[in-house]
Amino acid sequence: MRVLGISPLDKDATASFVEDGEILFACGEERLSRTKLQDGFPMRAVKMGLERTGWTLDSIDVVAYSFYDGAKEAELMNQAMLEDERYHEPGDTQGSLAALRAINEAGYTANLHPPIPGLDRDKEFADAKTWLKKKLYSLSTLSPQLDHKLHRRNFRQWIADASADHALRTTQLHEGLEELGLGNKLRRYNHHLCHAANAFYYSGYEEALVMSFDGYGSGNCGAVYRASSSGLEKLHEFSFPNSLGQFYEYVTAALGYRPGRHEGKIVGLAAYGDPEVLGPVLRPRFTGMQEGDIRIRGACNYYFTRLLSQSFSKRDMAAAYQHVLEEVVREVSDYWVNKTGLQNVCVSGGVNANVKLNQRIHECKGVNSVFVYPNMGDGGCGTGAALLAFEQESLARKPLENAYLGPDFSDEEIENALKGAGLKYEHHEDVETATAEHLAKNHIVARFAGRMEYGPRALGNRSILYPAQDPEVNLWLNHQLGRTEFMPFAPAAMAEHASRLFIGVDGCEKTSEFMTITFDCTDEMKNMCPAAVHIDGTARPQLVSNETNPSFYRLLSAYESITGIPSLINTSFNMHEEPIVCSPDDAIRAFLEGRIDILSIGSFVVPHPELDRIQAERTEESSTATC
Ligand SMILES: [Fe+2]
Repeated sequence: MRVLGISPLDKDATASFVEDGEILFACGEERLSRTKLQDGFPMRAVKMGLERTGWTLDSIDVVAYSFYDGAKEAELMNQAMLEDERYHEPGDTQGSLAALRAINEAGYTANLHPPIPGLDRDKEFADAKTWLKKKLYSLSTLSPQLDHKLHRRNFRQWIADASADHALRTTQLHEGLEELGLGNKLRRYNHHLCHAANAFYYSGYEEALVMSFDGYGSGNCGAVYRASSSGLEKLHEFSFPNSLGQFYEYVTAALGYRPGRHEGKIVGLAAYGDPEVLGPVLRPRFTGMQEGDIRIRGACNYYFTRLLSQSFSKRDMAAAYQHVLEEVVREVSDYWVNKTGLQNVCVSGGVNANVKLNQRIHECKGVNSVFVYPNMGDGGCGTGAALLAFEQESLARKPLENAYLGPDFSDEEIENALKGAGLKYEHHEDVETATAEHLAKNHIVARFAGRMEYGPRALGNRSILYPAQDPEVNLWLNHQLGRTEFMPFAPAAMAEHASRLFIGVDGCEKTSEFMTITFDCTDEMKNMCPAAVHIDGTARPQLVSNETNPSFYRLLSAYESITGIPSLINTSFNMHEEPIVCSPDDAIRAFLEGRIDILSIGSFVVPHPELDRIQAERTEESSTATC
């Protein structure tokens, strides 16, 4: 059976081509439109998938979508509001307010040491708001009643906006499918069931506890399932608006970053701050933690977070939100692991893009093994929906072999693109060794090879690589690519060295192929590859083996033979706020604009036309920074 899975159209619209349970092709529309997190019907991705798989439109049996229609979603949102009104009464936020008053009385002095690489001193606090706005934020927390009223008002507004958006997406989906003649093949699925399906069915586990956490989906913001060969049995749903995704979006926005997009910056910042400063203010807002549930008082009153951001440093804000998130999820995990006795845990949902949170789940008592679906956000939900269409079929469920599910390009296509750009290039029979030799000379290499990755992480095929010995290169490259990241770039490492470099990988071998979880680093890793280790001593590696990516593994092996170091920095190959490159033309443009030393593309190695000048500038900047 052939199923076309379509992920939600509101952002990162993605098409997945799944045959008898196996993903043959999957690609986000953003990679083709070149607009980050592209919304709307993913027509380009569908057309490319048809071309690459050879499927005809007639041969598609089912189109699977990971939301109900607009009317049903609106009904579920309104049900969630009624439940919220029944559950929440004002008067229980006193703990938060008392803690805040205590800090105010004691006086707050931000500890801004050590400096945060990439964050200027004058950006240590969120931008100051006008007197009027500050007054509004302040009023919103004066009393539990006001906090509660604002929560209600904002919740109603959220429902109005979200209902309108779901109606729009319903129309877009119908129009797109009608254009393809597939309108009568549509099946819709519960959003969290889709998250759970992709996480479990590709984990390779016989049975598992599956948890999803996100902003919103089908009336809920998370769910818990018991999964086995007989399917997914729902154990619990976290009703909206008790949303960990929204909780984290609020702090992202309050600190001046884009919610739904820049949450990774908060994870990076958190390691510099003190979670004890605001932890006691945030924690009392979480109630109802008995019996594995999550309830958040004043959940929609985002003024509360904005008020905090006007008085507290970004690092302490980030630390508190990250800490409370981890604490809450650990409590929930403990409850459900204990109740079910299941030791394998699968997670999926936008909140589980949080690599540090995933580490904490793995550390929970009773958890032996964790699998994080590599496309854990809504972009991966289309694949989950497609898998649900096979639930009646007895398929041999196999673990996800790799995430290289996008398009590839022939050497002929690549060479034509290089000639078109007027670049000088060398052809290599063994391009991996030639590339490793450049890396051993401390060159920064943009690598374009094989099929593009599915999901948010670059896993070696559309990656920028460089030696992990010099942390200064992180700063230089961030500057060059127009990025601000507060977590070091991640290391790609030869899988057989995992226990030498990282602590606690046991049980996470599969998931660490996808760079979705952090581990504490060994002293050897900290000394050998300091540029890949965060201030808290963790890294989020991609473990590479000959089975998952033979070409990338050959490159790492060749680099290790020359230098003795089995790991390289691996960051995504894209320019500022652009999607990861997809085609040879995208790669050439980003390589030239990003002023990267070397482009390794297909069987070709291309030095940047201004290589000498770029290296001189980098040396000069590095020596200035050292002085
Ligand atoms: Fe979701």
